[in-house]
Amino acid sequence: MKKKLILVTGGAGFLGSNLCKVLVEQGNYVVCIDNLYTGRKENIVDLMEKENFIFINHDIIQPINLDTVFSFKSGDISITEVEQIYNLACPASPIHYQKDPIQTLKTSVWGIMNMLAIAKKTNATILQASTSEVYGDAQITPQNETYHGNVNTIGIRACYDEGKRVAETLLFDYHRMYNVNIKVMRIFNTYGPNMDPLDGRVVSNFIVQALRNDDITVYGDGEQTRSFCYVTDLIEGMMRLMNSNDTIHGPVNIGNPGEFTVKQLADLVIELTGSKSKIIYMPLPQDDPCRRRPDITLAKEKLNWEPKIQLKEGIEKTMQYFKEII
Ligand SMILES: NC(=O)c1ccc[n+]([C@@H]2O[C@H](COP(=O)([O-])OP(=O)(O)OC[C@H]3O[C@@H](n4cnc5c(N)ncnc54)[C@H](O)[C@@H]3O)[C@@H](O)[C@H]2O)c1
Repeated sequence: MKKKLILVTGGAGFLGSNLCKVLVEQGNYVVCIDNLYTGRKENIVDLMEKENFIFINHDIIQPINLDTVFSFKSGDISITEVEQIYNLACPASPIHYQKDPIQTLKTSVWGIMNMLAIAKKTNATILQASTSEVYGDAQITPQNETYHGNVNTIGIRACYDEGKRVAETLLFDYHRMYNVNIKVMRIFNTYGPNMDPLDGRVVSNFIVQALRNDDITVYGDGEQTRSFCYVTDLIEGMMRLMNSNDTIHGPVNIGNPGEFTVKQLADLVIELTGSKSKIIYMPLPQDDPCRRRPDITLAKEKLNWEPKIQLKEGIEKTMQYFKEII
């Protein structure tokens, strides 16, 4: 009996574990490939008990043996085809991706080449988790997919931004040369359960600081803007893109167009947690973008997708998660 096999690289991370959960619940056979660089076993501990989920500890910088991938064999189930590949492996927060910038670049560039090789060989559809960071410090707002970006190629964020840009190029070249079915998704700032409390991202930082009544650190004057997408909305958009018509390759922005200043976020977190924290201001890191807001017209038109969860509701749900784990 032939079953649908889906590879998820980075499946032990924040987004990957939320995605694997939905895919497993739908009855798919899910192979999670992750080297636990930033991912955490706690994120997938419940999934490890399911018979339609396996975890493979592997660095996608290295090619992977397909026999390992096809290791689902129980009863009459024998899987010999990969149907879909979600490529999410890559550290996503600045403190993590700047720790070893060469590893970050290799993960984006060599990693996607290894995954594209599997897609080419098995005829699988491959979705790349790209990022709003390909727009760099954008000169237009909101950012739409035709904007080519403003990235400082030699700055400290370039290992992430440029790696993701090259990965997009490779996907489109594999599509043009070998007709690999590709989907490129540009993800904007996302938050929710399974975030790493220590990853230094603005939402996790603020909630953890507020829950501990520590000072809330705002970088710069707090007037820079961000858009915040709740994770369930994001995963829904990701799966809609993966399962979209074969003529849709993207790039497609997926994010929440609601725009908030970092200071507004800090005030909201203090209000919802009832915290005694005070806001303190620190210097803005190099190349920090001033404005970040997705134009999601394309996602609405092509995928019939738009986010549903408002910031207040999403922050409340995320707070509950952090209360349980810290
Ligand atoms: N969360 C966001 O707001 C956001 C925004 C834009 C883009 N993205 C992209 O989405 C993807 C997932 O992000 P996330 O927030 O879940 O980050 P995360 O750090 O929680 O997850 C990344 C996962 O990839 C794994 N990984 C890293 N390098 C690897 C390698 N060489 N081989 C195998 N596994 C490796 C990590 O261990 C981790 O489990 C990333 O590609 C990221 O660039 C996320």
